[in-house]
Amino acid sequence: MRTQMLSKVQSSGEQSGKLVITTAEAEAHIWVYGPAIIRVNITKRPSANDQSFAVIQKPGRRITYIENKQSIEVNTSDLKLIITKSPLRFNFYTPGGQPLSEDDSRFGTTWQGEKVITYRKLFADERFIGLGEKTGNLDRRGSSYVNWNTDASEHGIKTDPLYKTFPFFIGIHSGCTYGLFMDNTHKSYFDFGATTDEQMSWFGADGGNMNYYFFGAQTIAGILQDFTWLTGRMEMPPLWSLGYQQCRWSYMSAKEVLKVAHTFRKKRIPADVMYCDIDYMDHYKIFTWNPETFPDPKAMMDELKAIDFKLVTIVDPGIKVEDGYKQYNEGVANKYFATYPNGENYVAKVWPGRCHFPDFYRADVREWWGKAFSALTEPGVAGFWNDMNEPAAWGQNIPGLVHFGKQSIPEVRNAYGLEMARATYQGTKKLLGNKRPFVLTRAAYPGVQRYSAVWTGDNSANDAHMLLGARLVNSIGLTGVAFTGVDIGGFTGNPTPELMVRWNSLGVYTPMFRNHACIGTIYREPWRWGKKNEAIIKKDIEHRYCLLPYIYSSFYQAHQTGLPVNRTLAIDHTHDDKVYDGNYQTQFLFGDALLIAPAASTERHIKVYLPQGNWYRLSTHEKLKGGKVHKADAPLTDLPVFVKAGAIIPMQDVVQSTAGHGCGMLKLHIWYGKEPNAFTYYEDDGITYNYEKGTYYKRIISFEPVKNRIVLSAVEGNFESRFTQVKLVLHGFNTKLKAINVNGESIKLQEKKHGTSVTVPNNRMEMIIEF
Ligand code: GLC
Repeated sequence: MRTQMLSKVQSSGEQSGKLVITTAEAEAHIWVYGPAIIRVNITKRPSANDQSFAVIQKPGRRITYIENKQSIEVNTSDLKLIITKSPLRFNFYTPGGQPLSEDDSRFGTTWQGEKVITYRKLFADERFIGLGEKTGNLDRRGSSYVNWNTDASEHGIKTDPLYKTFPFFIGIHSGCTYGLFMDNTHKSYFDFGATTDEQMSWFGADGGNMNYYFFGAQTIAGILQDFTWLTGRMEMPPLWSLGYQQCRWSYMSAKEVLKVAHTFRKKRIPADVMYCDIDYMDHYKIFTWNPETFPDPKAMMDELKAIDFKLVTIVDPGIKVEDGYKQYNEGVANKYFATYPNGENYVAKVWPGRCHFPDFYRADVREWWGKAFSALTEPGVAGFWNDMNEPAAWGQNIPGLVHFGKQSIPEVRNAYGLEMARATYQGTKKLLGNKRPFVLTRAAYPGVQRYSAVWTGDNSANDAHMLLGARLVNSIGLTGVAFTGVDIGGFTGNPTPELMVRWNSLGVYTPMFRNHACIGTIYREPWRWGKKNEAIIKKDIEHRYCLLPYIYSSFYQAHQTGLPVNRTLAIDHTHDDKVYDGNYQTQFLFGDALLIAPAASTERHIKVYLPQGNWYRLSTHEKLKGGKVHKADAPLTDLPVFVKAGAIIPMQDVVQSTAGHGCGMLKLHIWYGKEPNAFTYYEDDGITYNYEKGTYYKRIISFEPVKNRIVLSAVEGNFESRFTQVKLVLHGFNTKLKAINVNGESIKLQEKKHGTSVTVPNNRMEMIIEF
């Protein structure tokens, strides 16, 4: 097989705002998208069609460059690209000239047949994080990965690929950071120095262009902000979707669904969501109900509604081949399905038996799919779970011959799940009027955060999978997707009661808190584990509900900045080696303030690494110094969770669901620290899109230890908070403090075992609290 490499530049010049360079082999197009974002697209087949499933922005400004005999230099305020001309190579630097990432000078971008690969120099201390849903270490140096969305049922803790493709990674070396997103939906490859004698890293794809966006921000938060500017950020989720979710394959009848929901209320275990897995359908025909077991969906949903439960139903892409079935007949008549090159509809088996697969890449098919959800929304379904959308077919190997219009499956497979989620989201959003739909998807590609939450598919009921799940969620968070979850308890197999309890306690600190299990496994609801364990599970779920004001504000942060809710410590402590240590790499921050140290269900003591700064154990209020390893007790009743000094954590009383208002008191916990801190508190109705028109409630809460004060800014937005009072709870403050001044008026503090407090009316004006 012939190997081609980019040779010397033949011509260069500006065309419609971009720089175009030609060599004998290919053309390179270079755009500036933002001060720290440069795009390079190296192609053998230049085309006017520049479609991307992921990118929603256009280049920011006309490119400017300086050219001499040897090189072309592109400078932005935050990035320098030096392009050498003989041969054509691309090297990125900070504006001050520190190398960020350089082509391997020998090979650069190469082709073997249609396969295109870029080889990069590997820096001695270079680490790599990202790629989303990938097994292995947080630091991906020394590992290689494939992106090919796969129905990875029964995957192990090292399996690759899994369900999703995120060809975006962050490189860290010499105190610098950069990001690289290869926007190419073909099967793709990333090798972080696994097989090159520490010389090179490389990335590429089976076909298409070497089309990448290079990010030069010098913090990971900055890179994520730019990446999510480029590919979009999540909307505010419906508040109910942040409550506890109970799922199972399957609750087999409306009666069973209702019985489980009523049991939550009877036992006063908070919950918001019930699920219907595939068995609610008539022979697995999408958009139908089983007439025997779900005879009156509306009546079921009315009853759920009356006790403040929402229902989520599953939909799969496979449309059963059966004459008389509406979706089948319409799809065939309108040619909405994937075909062989001769135009025959492609058939493969999934749950319903023989199926056709909608061409979600087409706008008219998405529209048709979206409208069909009225069969679910009319009786009252509020959330839509998109499964099997890699797409899955029994036997896995969908032939490369299968086409979606002009595109063959090898070209676009990795974006199928994204496009299905998009169709579902856009359709249900229309049907629900001004209400926010909840969409969940298994397969994904960058940009999915605009439409959907994701979960990590069919994990297993063991400790290794629980810990892997935390790492997967943290890694997916590095790709702009904040709303993530795992099957709590493990999908296949049966958890021990200890594992169930532990996993549930970790689930509290997972963006999506869903308990799910495979058919044939034991029932998983909180009351199936004996009285003692039920009490622990209940207490942990209650704690989740207490944290919801903090969690919702953290989602607002994701919506505004692209920062995930679950954050690997590498985001804030990028250059701290310990964070990548195999012993501590699973730890993460949940929002700004809480550090979670996952412990296996068999462990009762663990070692925890607390990064620089001061910390408190949440449960005991014990003060701990950062920058070192600590031993932590880890009984099943108390997952090791730590609070950063200076933390501002808004909480509420236990409610039975997110529809509950509690006693109207916002509990604002402040944990003393020497450094100033600020938290953006955010609230809205949690249901509609009115927040986009200003109906929200936002205030900045500042903790200013040097000035001995806490300031609540005046409220922005015209939403009335559901809290009429604010209880300020102070932790770790001077024990001699007996009173504080609120807007000049002295108020006595109430003392409790842990923390002192004061309660004031929640008014909208600026509040200055001096201590
Ligand atoms: C797939 C999904 C799983 C679901 C099952 C039945 O295995 O990943 O969550 O329960 O299909 O629909």
